[in-house]
Amino acid sequence: MLSARPAQLVNMASVSTARLISLLKTNQACVQHVSSRASSWWSGVEMGPPDAILGVTEAFKRDTSAKKMNLGVGAYRDDNGKPFVLPSVRKAEEIIVSQKLDKEYLPISGNADFCKKAIGLALGDNNPVLADGLNVTVQGISGTGALRIGSAFLSKHFAGPKVAWLPAPTWGNHVPIFKHVNMDVQQYRYYDPKTCGFDFNGALEDIAKIPEGSLIVLHACAHNPTGVDPKKDQWDEMSSLIKKKKLLPFFDMAYQGFASGDVARDAYAVRKFLDDGHRILLSQSFSKNMGLYGERAGAFSIICSDKDEAARVMSQVKILIRPLYSNPPLHGSRIVATILGSPDLHSMWLKDVKGMADRIISMRSKLKANLEKEGSVRNWSHITEQIGMFCFTGMTPDQVEKLTKEYSVYLTKDGRISVAGIASTNVEYLAHAMHQVTK
Ligand SMILES: Cc1ncc(COP(=O)(O)O)c(C=O)c1O
Repeated sequence: MLSARPAQLVNMASVSTARLISLLKTNQACVQHVSSRASSWWSGVEMGPPDAILGVTEAFKRDTSAKKMNLGVGAYRDDNGKPFVLPSVRKAEEIIVSQKLDKEYLPISGNADFCKKAIGLALGDNNPVLADGLNVTVQGISGTGALRIGSAFLSKHFAGPKVAWLPAPTWGNHVPIFKHVNMDVQQYRYYDPKTCGFDFNGALEDIAKIPEGSLIVLHACAHNPTGVDPKKDQWDEMSSLIKKKKLLPFFDMAYQGFASGDVARDAYAVRKFLDDGHRILLSQSFSKNMGLYGERAGAFSIICSDKDEAARVMSQVKILIRPLYSNPPLHGSRIVATILGSPDLHSMWLKDVKGMADRIISMRSKLKANLEKEGSVRNWSHITEQIGMFCFTGMTPDQVEKLTKEYSVYLTKDGRISVAGIASTNVEYLAHAMHQVTK
């Protein structure tokens, strides 16, 4: 229809002035109609709450105090409070750049070399599961993406109840990751606020009540947000109970090496469960232990019963990934594969990761010692007993609020601090502030 055509397409010479004005008006009305309809399409969308952790960073940025500290964010800082790129990562990047590699797409399952090295790091290269080809390992968009692939696979193919049993508390993103795929979430007792430690008996009691054949999510090490991990013998007992209850364990390993400084020690639970005959799911992240936060390097694995099952499972995992993001990013996976594939870089990285873990451990001791020096009579031994990036201080939401308002120390309301954000220049100030709000 002529009236619906844009004005500039009309042959001007053949149209009267009055007709031209009418055409222009119609055209304008059409544009207005389309734009007003477009702006109303989302009028029903409600404002969502800000992300609990990123909200802390926003508030921190607005604070003008010279003494301000951001202990909310889960990223390692050096002793000057600055982001840290590992020397082994810098070296690997130099090697990669010098190779002048192409930027072609990776396969759906990601960088095969990376996948092989990532699962070898988690399970130990000599693990019989790998020799027998029982693992399905794909590259994920870091740990979050690996968990998300896992949740999608479970939602579609898991024959048990569509419920994820999570520790209470757990990493905030676990809940939406499972809810996103229409799975329900339930929690088992994990943290004991009375001791600021592991509620071992509570966990065993609750796990014993989980319906047979269900899915249980476990933090492999450096539990986030509490920093509380089971001891080796407690893992052993949990493994046999979980076996007895025929539960499917899904390990989230976001901190291998970052907890104790020893990659094998931090993988104890994962390896023990496999030795005990569990068929596990595993998510791995290289965000913290290689400092590759923004590179999004991670892996998702399913340990199967035989090679044929593994081939079938792999085909279905790829079918899930293809419409999600098609294939994963290249650079981070090349860094990980380069480091783990070179004996020199590998040992350099082990030193780097131990250096980070040791700095965190020393900040824990200094914080506790300074709290005692301040004259605090509270028992702060959990600060050094907990492990990894985070410490669940036991401070109440009111105390946290005071700490932020009066001392410009930013942290999440649950009293969690990122020990990696403390430096030797401000640990005394932090201890002073914590004592003032808790005495
Ligand atoms: C327990 C846990 N799982 C998974 C992740 C995923 O991290 P990313 O997606 O950066 O690898 C994190 C990060 O904080 C975490 O703490």
